[in-house]
Amino acid sequence: MQDIGINRISFSTSRYFIDMAEFALSRNQVKAKYYDGLMQEKMSIPPPCEDTITLAFSAAVNVTDKYDIEKIDLLIFATESGIDESKSCAIYIHKFLNLKSTCKVFDIKQACYAGTAAIFTAYAFVRANPGRQALVVMSDVARYGLHTPGEATQGCGAVAVIISENPSIAVINPKTGIHSEESMDFWRPVGRNEAIVNGAMSAKKYLSFLKRSYEDFQKNNGMELDHICFHTPFCKMALKGHIALYGNRDNFNVNSIAYNRLIGNCYTASLYISLISLLSNTKEDLSRRIIGLYSYGSGSVSEFFSVRMQAGYMDFLNIDLFKKNIEDRIHISIKEYENIYDSYCLDDIKNLDYLTSGELRFLGVSDDMRVYEKYKR
Ligand code: COA
Repeated sequence: MQDIGINRISFSTSRYFIDMAEFALSRNQVKAKYYDGLMQEKMSIPPPCEDTITLAFSAAVNVTDKYDIEKIDLLIFATESGIDESKSCAIYIHKFLNLKSTCKVFDIKQACYAGTAAIFTAYAFVRANPGRQALVVMSDVARYGLHTPGEATQGCGAVAVIISENPSIAVINPKTGIHSEESMDFWRPVGRNEAIVNGAMSAKKYLSFLKRSYEDFQKNNGMELDHICFHTPFCKMALKGHIALYGNRDNFNVNSIAYNRLIGNCYTASLYISLISLLSNTKEDLSRRIIGLYSYGSGSVSEFFSVRMQAGYMDFLNIDLFKKNIEDRIHISIKEYENIYDSYCLDDIKNLDYLTSGELRFLGVSDDMRVYEKYKR
């Protein structure tokens, strides 16, 4: 069987962040609650002109720069913070990337699991159409509302992945483990910008679904894993996942949450930011190592799967860019964060002082249509 998997991968996040120590102070909490209790140090904050589309575009540019985009015959966009009830987010990326008109384009949704659903849909497409490639983008702005318990676990970011035959980075194992069962742990009713979450229930479901999908994966594979990356709504959740599988926190690989700890939650993209964190921050050569990945989407669907790292994968990771995405961000105060929070999705964006992370920005809504503009910084 032909190897199919990740040929390119990159991410983006917003240009602004808050520090969780300052956040703690503003919410009458101690720093340790967030730094240690949730294991979150910083949180990316999107300015009014940054949204799911602009973040996805930045990530997609990172993987398609110097890439032959003529090869891309499928574009799938995974999100749970989409900007239209009908029209896909993917078609905006298709337009701004100038992908060919014979490329198939659509969105996919199942809370944070949607990114993984998109990856396996792309996998099946590539398997059925030898020689063709697919671009998957996962992009989200995680919002729970000011002064809610979920507020500390917001964030934003996007990951873009190119799926192809003979991949340069990692081969995907198609024998996975699944558990699906309806639940009301997290949802976002139509018309709302903020999600509703039952925090305690979502943590319980995350762990019970992990156990079930891991068992199914092992029934199908019976395989030793060298490392595991977890869906990471906040970093403590990944640690809890590790403890649920191994019974203790020994050998929990903090490299796998290095970027998540500084960005916060990115819903669909969070698992793949964890994978990028592991690959970029681990000193040992991971060539031929097997990495397990746990994907969980509230509501709820989970999938446990694995990839085998290719020899030479490091040559295809732009680690300088990954570091720049994090280090070049601008620190804003809690007051500034609260001010720009309320501007999200407003019809008319008056304040364009804040920039997006890339070169596409949202300008506002005109005649019920969202307007985007490419610009040079
Ligand atoms: N020092 C160290 N740890 C501290 C602390 C301190 N001073 N104060 C609190 N903590 C710990 C708590 O013990 C707890 O850790 P534990 O769960 O391991 O026991 C953690 O910090 C959080 O404290 P808690 O009181 O539960 O916080 P909270 O009521 O503010 O809510 C969440 C935390 C995560 C439940 C809330 O932010 C939320 O609902 N987030 C969204 C959840 C989500 O993303 N769900 C989707 C899952 S897929």
